[in-house]
Amino acid sequence: EKEGYDHFMLKEIHEQPKGLYETLNRRIEKDGSIKLDGIHLTKEDIENFNKVFIVACGTAYHAGLVGKFILENLAKIPVEIDVASEFRYRDPFVDDKTLFIAISQSGETLDTLAALREAKRKGARILSVVNVVGSSVARESDDVFYTWAGPEIAVASTKAYTTQLMCMYLIGLYMGRKKGVVSDEKYAQYMSELKQIPDKLANLLEGESAIHDLAKELYKREQVFFIGRGADVGVSYEGSLKLKEISYINSFAIAAGELKHGTIALIEKDTLVIALATQDKLYEKMLSNIQEVKARGAYVIGVAKEGNKEIEKQADRVIYIPDCMDEVSPFLSVVPLQILAYYIAKERGCDIDKPKNLAKSVTVE
Ligand code: F6R
Repeated sequence: EKEGYDHFMLKEIHEQPKGLYETLNRRIEKDGSIKLDGIHLTKEDIENFNKVFIVACGTAYHAGLVGKFILENLAKIPVEIDVASEFRYRDPFVDDKTLFIAISQSGETLDTLAALREAKRKGARILSVVNVVGSSVARESDDVFYTWAGPEIAVASTKAYTTQLMCMYLIGLYMGRKKGVVSDEKYAQYMSELKQIPDKLANLLEGESAIHDLAKELYKREQVFFIGRGADVGVSYEGSLKLKEISYINSFAIAAGELKHGTIALIEKDTLVIALATQDKLYEKMLSNIQEVKARGAYVIGVAKEGNKEIEKQADRVIYIPDCMDEVSPFLSVVPLQILAYYIAKERGCDIDKPKNLAKSVTVE
């Protein structure tokens, strides 16, 4: 059932164009508007919310980090985000004007479920973004929005993450349209960009062997730093988690602008830094961050949009992703990081689909 792939993880990485196509296209009506099956939020409901609270764990939390960005941009509403194990014990301010969004692949993560129950008790409206149909999180929510990733077997989540992202864009666009804060033009632009993602990803996956070569060069490293700004921060966290969980390399992610407040002390000659620089608005800022670590001797792998070649002057190596609007780049920038993590773990001889100490769904505290 691995369909010729050595591991489920690689198979699932390759299933992303299809999963994203399904997650998006099943929600678009003939007239181009979004239909959110399973979600019954009226215009009045949406206007009544004064806050969104996103809660999840691990990779799903990282999808939430990008989701916060997107919802604030599209639905013009303040968004808080927390990991479920913290949310459930800290008496967060949640009431009947809160839209609580739980994100979970399995729908069985105990901390996420407990956080959901706590939010429900406080009167919040509960919306969940879930992959497994009929799971506990889905059953206990007021509204459920399914990712169409298909079953995810590998412990390291890949296609669930990117389809969770797609759901967050759709929820953001839907809410923004209902509130009248997303113009026709902006809506059309987002839709056109989102529709291009599956094909762009398929193209990107054709360049897999170059990333495999890079992995052969890097697999003996014992420490990696991921840095980025804006939408790239959440992707840096996710890239770092993927790498550490399957290859056991000590990896760390941080907002690039925060480096100088302490962490830069760890950058020395030959330290490996993966620098995401996919945001046009922040490109120059990222180039200075790269310069900063280069000045201390770091070995830098840049990730940038095709055409943004200036980075080659500073980074030692560059991975290019297809050109796109800044706001949708997380779909494209995370995939090279998934592939890099996969091949680094493979070169290190790790048990990729079943990393030590980890389970596919965490139903204990
Ligand atoms: C990492 C990973 C975990 C899960 C987390 C939440 O690759 O898979 O971090 O994302 O345990 O699981 P779900 O999404 O099932 O709630």
